[in-house]
Amino acid sequence: MKQNPLMLALDLDDRNKILDLIHETKDYIWTYKVGPRLFLKEGPSFIKKIKKLAPFCKVFLDFKFYDIPSSTLSAVQSAFEIGADFVTVHAKVGPRSLKELYQLEKSLKKIKFFKILCVSVLSSVEMSDKTQKEVLILADQVYQSGLRALVCSPFEVKTLREKYSDLFLVTPGIRLDGDFQFDQKRTMTARDALQAGSSALVLGRSILNKKDPLKVLKSLVMSLGLAYASS
Ligand code: C5P
Repeated sequence: MKQNPLMLALDLDDRNKILDLIHETKDYIWTYKVGPRLFLKEGPSFIKKIKKLAPFCKVFLDFKFYDIPSSTLSAVQSAFEIGADFVTVHAKVGPRSLKELYQLEKSLKKIKFFKILCVSVLSSVEMSDKTQKEVLILADQVYQSGLRALVCSPFEVKTLREKYSDLFLVTPGIRLDGDFQFDQKRTMTARDALQAGSSALVLGRSILNKKDPLKVLKSLVMSLGLAYASS
């Protein structure tokens, strides 16, 4: 059985609906992703709430920080302090920030699990040679800094995996068979993304918009041969 790589984006408005969703899906999800939509309404205490409801799951704070070095660093430090296990920054913050972030990650990791994920080009951007080139340039800057985690679309994974075997590659833009693309452009199925070499998959509307999210999730976990999150 493969380790569970599923990250579920809690992109909903109703607090109770979110709590119910966590309660019912926690055995099938590795990480819950909190973005500004939820965090701005519920605040840092919601991170603790998730951890209490799903103690085996990780929490990913997806704010995609993009600021001057000192501000980016303090934002990441704050994310760590409120209990996030993953946090996103834009890879475009530049080599100086990335190097400082690497040092910060190194010291925070000594306290508990913590990963800084560097966002390359959003999966809502059309596929083109320019996009692919930009992802590679940003991946190179991230790698040179010492950081080892990148967010990219599933389409860049194969090339990146060949070049950097030790990069942790997080891919949003996952769609199940028959799903709408919505605003995403560079999408792939969960199976194809894993086959290409993704380390973790971000699922949002492919699960959230289903009449029975748990049923869809269970069948995905079974068909991909994934382990339960708590095992
Ligand atoms: O619903 P969907 O599967 O498109 O949701 C994708 C989730 O991943 C959203 O929460 C979005 O903010 C996030 N994300 C993304 N592209 C990135 C980084 C994060 O779509 N590069």
